[in-house]
Amino acid sequence: MTSEFLFNHAELFMDKKLNVITNLANLSAIIMENITDLNWVGFYLFDGEKLFLGPFQGKAAVTIIDMGKGVCGTCAANKKTIVVANVHDFPDHIPCDCDSNSEIVIPIIKDGQLFGVLDIDSPKLNRFDESVKNDLEKLVKLLVDIL
Ligand code: SME
Repeated sequence: MTSEFLFNHAELFMDKKLNVITNLANLSAIIMENITDLNWVGFYLFDGEKLFLGPFQGKAAVTIIDMGKGVCGTCAANKKTIVVANVHDFPDHIPCDCDSNSEIVIPIIKDGQLFGVLDIDSPKLNRFDESVKNDLEKLVKLLVDIL
């Protein structure tokens, strides 16, 4: 799967005129379908105080994450992408699916404000190399443009 196909696919399905939940739901499906070796793809959304579970693909997951907690809460608090090569080595990792071995969490920032995070898990150790990270950050930029 080329990055270009992935971006074209995302642009085709995401639209500023659609409800935000609709766009998030389709983007989670597009990532799950087009990037190999993933077991969970979804969004945690910021309500001004904490993160709550948004649209996702994968097993049922933790519903509320406090800021600064777990990989997602740490990413949201620092507003920086976190790549975890081995989740079992991340001291504050919140386990959801026992198949997960590596994880990436990307902050979603609109006009300087935290909107939420994109959280992706893989059963493979060290799945999220620089090239996948760049593709995913570019997809988040596309999403931010239509929020
Ligand atoms: N592992 C995350 C929790 C969410 S699940 O991976 C879906 C974390 O540590 O924040």
